[in-house]
Amino acid sequence: MKDGKMITLGIETSCDETSAAVVADGRKILSNIILSQIQWHEKFGGVVPEIASRKHLENICAVVEKALQEASIDFSDVDLVAVTHGPGLIGALLVGVSYAKAVSFAAKKPLIGVNHIEGHIYANFLENDFEPPFICLVVSGGHTHLVYMEDHGKYTVLGRTLDDAAGEAFDKIARALDLGYPGGPAIDRIARLGNEDAISFPVAHIKGHELDFSFSGLKSAVLNYLNHCRQKGISIKVEDVAASFQKAVVSALVEKTLEAARETDCRVIALAGGVAANSRLREEFQKRAGENFEIRFPSVKLCTDNAAMIACAGYYRYRRGFSSDLSLEAYANLKLF
Ligand code: KG4
Ligand code: ZN
Repeated sequence: MKDGKMITLGIETSCDETSAAVVADGRKILSNIILSQIQWHEKFGGVVPEIASRKHLENICAVVEKALQEASIDFSDVDLVAVTHGPGLIGALLVGVSYAKAVSFAAKKPLIGVNHIEGHIYANFLENDFEPPFICLVVSGGHTHLVYMEDHGKYTVLGRTLDDAAGEAFDKIARALDLGYPGGPAIDRIARLGNEDAISFPVAHIKGHELDFSFSGLKSAVLNYLNHCRQKGISIKVEDVAASFQKAVVSALVEKTLEAARETDCRVIALAGGVAANSRLREEFQKRAGENFEIRFPSVKLCTDNAAMIACAGYYRYRRGFSSDLSLEAYANLKLF
């Protein structure tokens, strides 16, 4: 406890960010340290799992120490240790889980395992008084889900991707355009310089799957367009391709989310996950929401992987009566829904 507040130490190592955060009463961020590993992965064009685990191992102690220092607390002030235990890269997850178990054991503090996707949804609760129910569009590197969150811990999946995740599509197209890794932010930046109506890429509508997504057809259409141009010697305007591709993804995400909100009679919509950082997506949601819907999204830093969202989700899970013990395991494919 610190100043009468419950202190949660969050730890996140599911992919390529080593992160530790201190959050008071589940919502107030006292520190949120994020050490990105991009510099070690970018030359390979994606995350190399073995490098990710090794870098987490090298940095986890210093990152947690910095989080405690910035929050002006030490381990004795911590009331709960919350750690991502899936889904993610198994070797990377194991570093965070082992570290969290060691802290829990040595400092005699309760431990809670958190689902990474639930963490992304909970990023919406940080630093404001937002409450369920709402429709949440979860769009990350590995997930694309349309979820109705009725209450804390109560989710109904209304739609999901039938093939690629939205973030995966951004990363693949960025690679095809030689924009480097990670692809989402690169496309977001360069698309601002392009004409999004330059090329008409298809948005999949699959009969019987009105609230599901499909990005593989769009991905093939962009790749075919690039091949066609290269074969015919037509010059490719990367800005226009990026902008037109982004428009198609954004349009599918916005249309289906608004449809889900209408069907469930829910006027509050929240965005979550790395792709929720996309400036065009945020802008289009605001534009299309009009008077009928209220759109919420976390700040850009809280959309991508960070430990504050894990601390927040862990706090609420603990308050619902859950806790973990030292047998907590990491799962690459941990399910939330
Ligand atoms: O949530 P996240 O940090 O990690 C996962 O849990 O997967 O999401 C990473 C994904 C990557 O695919 C990345 O390219 C994408 O989010 N992303 C973006 C933007 N920032 C990150 N996609 C589009 N626009 C962005 N600004
Ligand atoms: Zn994530």
